[in-house]
Amino acid sequence: MTLLALENVSVAYDHQHYILRDFNLNIERGQFISLLGPSGCGKTTTLRLIAGFLEAKSGQFTFNGKNYTKVPVNKRNFGFVFQSYALFPHLSIFENVAFGLRLRKVSDSEIAKRVSRMLEIVSLTGYEKRFPKELSGGQKQRVAIARALVIEPDLLLFDEPLSNLDANLRVNMRVEIRRIQQELGITTVYVSHDQEECFSISDQVAIMNNGVIEQLDRPSTIFKYPRTEFVAKFIGFSNFIEFAYREDRDGEIWLKDKATSFRVPKHAGTDKSGGRKIAIRPEDINITADSPFIPSTGQIDTGKELNQVAGAVMVSTFLGRSYQYVVRTEMGDFTVNREMEEPYANGQKVLLTFPGDKLVIVN
Ligand SMILES: Nc1ncnc2c1ncn2[C@@H]1O[C@H](COP(=O)(O)OP(=O)(O)OP(=O)(O)O)[C@@H](O)[C@H]1O
Ligand SMILES: [Mg+2]
Repeated sequence: MTLLALENVSVAYDHQHYILRDFNLNIERGQFISLLGPSGCGKTTTLRLIAGFLEAKSGQFTFNGKNYTKVPVNKRNFGFVFQSYALFPHLSIFENVAFGLRLRKVSDSEIAKRVSRMLEIVSLTGYEKRFPKELSGGQKQRVAIARALVIEPDLLLFDEPLSNLDANLRVNMRVEIRRIQQELGITTVYVSHDQEECFSISDQVAIMNNGVIEQLDRPSTIFKYPRTEFVAKFIGFSNFIEFAYREDRDGEIWLKDKATSFRVPKHAGTDKSGGRKIAIRPEDINITADSPFIPSTGQIDTGKELNQVAGAVMVSTFLGRSYQYVVRTEMGDFTVNREMEEPYANGQKVLLTFPGDKLVIVN
C-alpha cells in the first residue's frame, strides 16, 4: 500500500532554476528506499520537500491518504537524521533523546520509559548522563538516530547520516540502521551518494540524475538491468555500443552496423522498445588472442562473427586481482577486465566476444 506519493512536484529555489520538475515518487508502507545520485542532483532537495522545509511550486504530496502539500513541518510526525548530528551540546544524552517528547508534552514517566527503550535499541544504555562532547562520532550518530526514533515517527528521513564516520563504523552503523528500521517497521527514505551503502540496506533504490529519477527498482534489478545509459554508467557498465539498425525476431534482438552484427536474447534487461544501444560491464567481455585462422576449418577469421569484434590492445593495466585492457576496435574503444590471465601486450591483436546474456539495452 502506498504511504507516500509525490505527484508531478516541481521545486525551484528561485524563479528560473527548477531543481525538481514533474517529479514523481511512490513509497510503500514499511519500505526502506534510498535516493542515490551524483552531487547536486536533488537528493537533499527531495528530502527537504518531504520533511516540509521546502514548499513545492506545483504538484501534490500525499501521505497516508491525506494531502500533505501544505502541512507544516511541526504537524508532520517525521523523524530526521542529518549528516551533522546536530545534538544539543548543553543537554545530556537523555535530554537530547527526550527533546521531541518534551515538545509534545509527554509525561515524565512516559519519557523515562521511552528514552531508555531507545537507548537500549541503539546500544547506549548507561550513557544517559553524558554530554555529546564525551561521545565518539558513532555514538553521537546513534544518539541522533534514537532522538529521531523516540517520537515514533510516521516516516524516517536520513540525509547522508554516515558520511562523517570512518569506513568500519559506517558499515556497522548501516547494518544497525537497517536492523532498527526493520524491527520497528518504520518507512524510511535514505539519501547517500555511497552506492554500496544504498544497495546493501535498501528495499528499493531510486537513481537520480539532474532532478529526475532515472530508475526506481530493487537493488539487484538495478545492478543487473540498468534502464538508461546514465544508470548503467553509474553502476559500472563502462562499455556502450550504438547500432544503426535493429530487428526484433523470435525471442531475440538483432542489432546491426556496418562493421558487425550482434544477437541479444530477450531478457529483463532488453525490454526497451526500439532501443539500439547496448551496455556491458568490463568483466563480462571475453578477450582472446586473435588468430587469423580458425584451426578447425582453416579459414581466415575476419573477426566478424556474431557478437565479436576484433581489435588491438592499446593500454594494459594491472589492477591487483585482474588486468584491465583498453581495446581499440572499429566499433570504438572497450574496457575489458580479466582476472589473472596471460597479460596481453600493447599492440597485440585480440578478439572481443560479447555474451548475449550479459548485454543490456539502455535508453
Ligand atoms: N538553498 C538553495 N538555494 C539555491 N539553490 C540551491 C539551494 N540548495 C540547493 N540548491 C541547488 O539545488 C541543486 C540540488 O541540490 P541538493 O542539495 O538537493 O543536491 P544533492 O543531490 O543533495 O547533492 P549532494 O550529494 O552534494 O548533497 C544544486 O544545484 C544546488 O546548487
Ligand atoms: Mg545533499
